[in-house]
This record gives sequence, structure tokens and C-alpha cells, in this order.
Amino acid sequence: MDSPNAIATPHPILRSDYRPPAWLVPAVHLEVELDPAATRVRARLSVEPQGGTPGAPLRLDGAPGMVPERIAVDGRPLGAEEWRIEGEQLVIPLDQGAHIVDTEVVIAPEGNTQLMGLYASGGLLCTQCEAEGFRRITFFPDRPDVLSRYTVRMVADRARYPVLLANGDQTGTGDMTDGRHWAEWHDPFPKPCYLFAMVAGDLKANRDRFVTASGRSVELGIWVREADLPRTAHAMAALKASMAWDERVYGREYDLSIFNIVAVADFNFGAMENKGLNIFNSRYILADPETATDADYDAVAGVVAHEYFHNWSGNRVTCRDWFQLSLKEGFTVFRDQEFSADQGSRAVKRIEDVRVLRAAQFPEDAGPLAHPIRPDSYLEISNFYTATIYNKGAEVIRMLHTMLGAEGFRRGSDRYFDENDGTAATCEDFLRAMETANGVDLGGFRRWYGQAGTPRVRALLSHDAASGTARLSLAQIVPPTPGQPDKLPMPIPLRLALFGAESGRTLVPERVHILSEAEDSILFPAIGERPVLSINRGFSAPVVIESDRSAEDLAFLSAHDDDPFARFEAMQQLMVDTLVALIEGRPADEAAVIEAVRTTLADEALDAAFVGEAVLLPTEAFLGDQLAQVDPVAIRRAREGLRQRLGRTLEAQWRAAYAATAANGFALTPVAKGRRRLRTVALGYIAASGAADAAALALAQFEAADNMTDRYGALGVLGSMVAPERERALEGFYERYRADALVLDKWFTVQALSTREDTAEQVARLARHPDFTLANPNRLRALVGAFAANQHAFHAADGSGYRFVADMILAADPINAQTAARLVPPLGRWRRFEPMRAALMRAELERIVATPGLSRDVFEQASKSLG
Ligand code: PHE
Ligand code: ZN
Repeated sequence: MDSPNAIATPHPILRSDYRPPAWLVPAVHLEVELDPAATRVRARLSVEPQGGTPGAPLRLDGAPGMVPERIAVDGRPLGAEEWRIEGEQLVIPLDQGAHIVDTEVVIAPEGNTQLMGLYASGGLLCTQCEAEGFRRITFFPDRPDVLSRYTVRMVADRARYPVLLANGDQTGTGDMTDGRHWAEWHDPFPKPCYLFAMVAGDLKANRDRFVTASGRSVELGIWVREADLPRTAHAMAALKASMAWDERVYGREYDLSIFNIVAVADFNFGAMENKGLNIFNSRYILADPETATDADYDAVAGVVAHEYFHNWSGNRVTCRDWFQLSLKEGFTVFRDQEFSADQGSRAVKRIEDVRVLRAAQFPEDAGPLAHPIRPDSYLEISNFYTATIYNKGAEVIRMLHTMLGAEGFRRGSDRYFDENDGTAATCEDFLRAMETANGVDLGGFRRWYGQAGTPRVRALLSHDAASGTARLSLAQIVPPTPGQPDKLPMPIPLRLALFGAESGRTLVPERVHILSEAEDSILFPAIGERPVLSINRGFSAPVVIESDRSAEDLAFLSAHDDDPFARFEAMQQLMVDTLVALIEGRPADEAAVIEAVRTTLADEALDAAFVGEAVLLPTEAFLGDQLAQVDPVAIRRAREGLRQRLGRTLEAQWRAAYAATAANGFALTPVAKGRRRLRTVALGYIAASGAADAAALALAQFEAADNMTDRYGALGVLGSMVAPERERALEGFYERYRADALVLDKWFTVQALSTREDTAEQVARLARHPDFTLANPNRLRALVGAFAANQHAFHAADGSGYRFVADMILAADPINAQTAARLVPPLGRWRRFEPMRAALMRAELERIVATPGLSRDVFEQASKSLG
């Protein structure tokens, strides 16, 4: 490679290079004098040698430009010749045996825009240490297999930072004579440094209490700015429900007497599971009907549960190295998905989760950044907090759950927690616990951890009327991915059933068939009528099913299957088949789609939430994924055409659904949420029909709304219209919410997602809006992340969309490399597009890679995307 970065090209970290640490750090004492401009950190590490090369020096990770102001070993200050800096590491030769190592550094949180380590956010000081942020706070062996007991003494100005929080229990507080105060915290549980956290600020707590199954009382606190206190009730309810759920479903109790959550406005990810002190992006804590949609409410509960569940799957048992990330993330996503399914509608939750998987993970698995759920190498670990590690990881755990059954899975998880408690474990440890607890061999299943790519399963059902038998032929292909040209077959658990095409009866009740080989077939006796195949029910495996089911059979399943997910799926497949045919100019059975939607709308046994999901057309992006080569214009034309005809043909039905779901008092029950969902979906179809009153209807919903779901739903419909009502709603929304950052994000997003022809210009203007900032990750994603997901505007034929996103990546990179890097993957899909667009996308990636001073984060994503 001959880019200017070639000299500085970082070395990949390899999983095969793992070596246990030479030195352990059983205890850490920190003394932190907090100050936004100059925070002094004194660290006292108790170190002892372990297993590594005897005589190896102590190596402590640091950050660029970080220098120790003082180093002492066993109380004796070291001279300059007794230590050295190598790269970003502090290297101290030590005799074998235990030592006490003191270091002192000064850091500047207010200048920390990367939001890793100690940083300032809206008057607060807070930390983010996963994956490698602790090394920006003090010199330390920053790797998850070094577990320590922490004692932290925080000192700060009492007026500015009245609240001082860290992990574990508070062991003392006091005032100083100079206007500062201090607090000391001790965490009795050994933990890796990525779980360390500290917060100082003027915060108020929503306090509550939870009594565990064994009768211990836990003080709960959700800490926010005073004005946000009324918006913390939902998060608190979710926290208590999560604590009870983990006791009931996994037998896991909370283990400290305090559990605190802090909400911050500037945060790189969703939230962080620091031991006893979770820190959240405020968008996953704050919710009230005026400012949060139903989807926001669900996200709050899901993320609160996720972080809470990490206390066991992540904290009590952590990861040996970052290649094992899915050990904690895949498992914990599975746990939070199941929690949410138990709290609300299981069927709708499954549909939503599969939508996310298909929108984010399938394209990743089919592109240049594809990696297995347990990767083999990385340049920058922050780039591996991916849909593959999280969402595919969760599907892999779900397959184990399906194959072992709920009880077997529980036996395995009990064993995993018992055997590995207090240690840093591997995916292999998890699999072995599942195996021994159940007396099974998961040999072939391990391939799911090592092989990337979404398997494709061909499922062909034939019927022999004369012998009254049916045969299902199955074949799997795992496609090649970067660095993995050849794949072995993987065990794929398929839930399947057969229905009678004439009688509608169940001919073969649901069973789980594990497709372990490349090919396989099943013979079904006593099949007297033509059978219809229902397969991958409940989305039992994260695969693509290729079948030859006709439009008629799919319509039949969409109306009669007894698995709600399979019903949804049949409708989706019918829509996909029809739209792909339209896009490719082949004959398409549009009438079948319209009739299936009509039937679903008319089915009074279905709940509104399900109907709202089932009648939605597949997204443009998903349709693109089905095609050999993506032409976004052709996709848009076909999809909008079908949407219009659905809107027009069924206009009376949409209006009836709209009227039947009219708002009637805000409630957060699944029924009320489902009605709001269907209401806005119906409004969208009424607008698609071209009805003259659509804009007025949407504006009326917008103005009469007593909750954000209805208001934002209406705004979403208006956002793509050309009508004075649109401008009126956007202005009204801005004026009403301009002081509320989370809601203002929605205002940016709705415009970035608009299907209007002038979206690119509008978004360019919004990037210069005084409320836009590159420094806040939520805002950056709200505008640029949303724009890059807008298939029409981003893929403008002249390449202006690509140029805009690349410009924003380059502008954001020096400020926040992690967030900038997460904007790269949409450009990395270039290979899937027609040649003109592919060349334009490539050119932007090349421009990015050629930029001097690029972060390792963006360099990795952009260079791999070209590769
Ligand atoms: N571990 C966090 C989670 O899944 C995600 C995270 C990663 C947050 C890195 C911040 C930094 O819940
Ligand atoms: Zn997590």
C-alpha cells in the first residue's frame, strides 16, 4: 500500500498472540484530585509476578503524551534511568516478588473530546474505560485479564461537584478547608480496569430500593441533572424489573449494597456496565411521554436491563481478552432480548430484533468488514463493537438455547457462572460449561464462533401424492468472507412445520431439525394433501432461507401460520419476491401482496402491534441486499410504486385502521403502544396514496398529539412531503424542543431521512445549523448517521452524498475517532453498487485513507473497506 499512512500503518493485534500477563495487580489505590483543566492522579499498584517470562519488566499502558511526574517502587522514588517510556508504555524493571508501585500523572479532562478516559460533559466529570480508556487516566496494565480490588479517593470542589461517585461502596467522606471535599469508595470485587468508573458533578438522584431474593437490601440511584429527575421513572422501573428477572430466570442476585446509574449527554456508545456504577448515554435513561417515543421507552428498558445483566455476564465473569468480546456482549444481548420479550409482546420483539439483525449485521457479514463473532485480529478494538459481536453473537447463544432447551441452557449457564466466577474467561469456557452440564458435544457448533458470513439454506419441499409422502431437501452454503475463502458446514437449528394447502390444518407440528451437513433431507410420511413449508420459525437460526414457495403459499402462510414470526416472515418474503421482480422488470404478483395486506388488516384476531409490523414493506436497503447489483433509483421507484398502490387500493382500510386507533389517553401498555404504531403506519399509507387531505391529517395528528410517538410519527410522514404543513410542523417542533438535546436529535434525523428530492441540500444546511456539533456523538449520528442510511439521498448519482459523509468523517475524526469510524461502513458497501456509484464511493474511501494524521479507528475501517 502506498498511502501516506503506509509508514504509520498500525500492527494488527492477533488472537493467537495471547499470553497471560507477566504481572498481576491484586490491589489499586487511586487518589484523584479532580479539576477540568488539570486533574492529578496518584496511583498505588500492588503488583506481583505471575506465570510470564521470569524477569520481565513491569509494563504499564499509558496514552500519547502522558508522562509520569513521579514514580516510586516500594516507597523509593525512581531516578530517570530506572524507568523508560516505550511507545505509549511505561516500562519499569522489577525484581521478581511483590512490589508497591506509585505513579503520578496530570491529565486534562476538559480537552478530552474523544470521550475515552476522564472527560467533561455538561459540567460533569465522568469516565469511560472500555475498551482501553483507563490507560488515559493512569499508567496501568490495561487488559481485561488483570483483575484488581480498587480503592478510590476523589477530591473535588464542593460547589461545582457536590456528588462524587465511584464503584462499590462509599467508605468515607469529608470536607477540606479549601472549599473542596472528598469521598472514598471501595469495590470489594476484583475487576478489570475497563469496569472502573468515577463521576463528579451537580447531580440529583431518583432513589429507590430493591430487596434481593436472599433478603439483602440494595440502594438504587439514578443520577441526573435536577431538571431531568421526572424523566427517570421508566428507567428505575426497568432496573427493578431486571433485577427480579435475573433472579427468576438465571438465579443471579445483585452482589453490592449500592447500584448507581448516571446519565451523561456526551457518550460514544449506548451505556457502560461499570461495576455498581453504570454510566449511560442520557438517551437510554430519560423518558417521558412528552419527549420519548414508544421505541425510546423500549430502548431505555432494554439498555438498562442489558447493563444490569452485565453484572454477571461481563463483570463477575469477564473476558480474558478482547477477542472474547462476544462472550459478554452476545450473551448479554440475548439476555436483554429475552427480558424485553417477557415484559411486552414476544412476537413483536422478535420481529424487531430480526429487523435490526438484517439491517445492520447481514450487510456487515456480506461486506469487507465481515468478521466472525470471535475475531482473529484487529487494529483498533473500538471498531469491533459491531452488530456481528452483539447481535449475531446473541443469535448464536439463542441457537444454543434452542438446541439445549430452556432447562439445559440454564444448567449450562449455572455451570458457566459457577466455574468462572471472579475470572476472565473465554468463549471456549462458555461452550465447555454448556457441554458438560448437558452431556453433549458442541464440536461442530464451534464453527459459528470462527466462521464469518451469513449461511444460506436452500429448502425445497416436494410432495408425492401417490405415496402420500413429502420430502424436504436442505442444503447450506456459508459464503466466503475476507480471509476465509472456504467454509465448513455449521449445525443450523431449524424450527419447521408443514401445513395443508387445502385444509389449512397442521400436517407436521413444529419440530427442531438440526442441519449439520452441507446437504440433508427429511421424509415426511402420511402427507395426504399438498403441504406448505413453514421454516426457520421464530428465526431459529441467523441464516437466509431460499425456498421456491409461490406467492400463493406465502400468502397462505401470512394468513394461517400459527407462529407469528413465521406469519410476518411469509408476508415479508412475498413482498420481497414481488419487489425484486418489479425491480428486475419481471412479471410480479402485486395483487397477492395487496390481498395479503388486506387480509392482515381485516384479521381481528391479530393485535395492532403485529399488524403494524407485518404490513410494512421491506426497506430499500434490505431490497438492495437481495440483488446482485444495487441500483437505488430502480429500488426506490419499485418500492414507492407499490406503496402508492397499496395506499390507494386499500385507502378505505387504512382510514378505518387510522380511525380505530385514534389516540385515547396515553398508556404504555403493549395494546396502547400497538395502536399508536399501527396508527402512524396507516397515516403513512394514506399519505402514500396521494390523498389530498394527507398533509392536513398528519398536521392534525402532530398538533393534537399528547405524546411523542404520535407527534414524531406524524412528523416522520410530513418530513417526506412537499407541503406547507411540513414546514409548519418542523418549525413548531424546533421551537418547542430546541432546548432539549435528545428531542432536537429527532428534528435533525427526520430531515436527514426524508425522501424528498432536496434532502441533500437540506442536510448540508443542517450541518451548518448553530445546533449542529461534531462534538456530541448523538448529534453527529442523528444527522450524518441517518443521512448515510437514506438510500436515495446518500446514493445521489453525482456522488454528493458520499462526499458529504466523507467530509464529515474527516472533520469528526480528530475530535472523536470512535464515532467518526462508525460512519465509514456505509461507504464500504461500494462493491454492491452499480459501477458508477461504486467508483464514486471508492474514491471517497481513497480520499479518507490518503488523509494525513488519520486515527487508527478510521484508518482501519476505511482501508479494510477498500481492500
Ligand atoms: N460494554 C458496553 C455495552 O455493551 C458498550 C460500550 C463499549 C460502551 C465501549 C462504551 C464503550 O453495554
Ligand atoms: Zn454490553
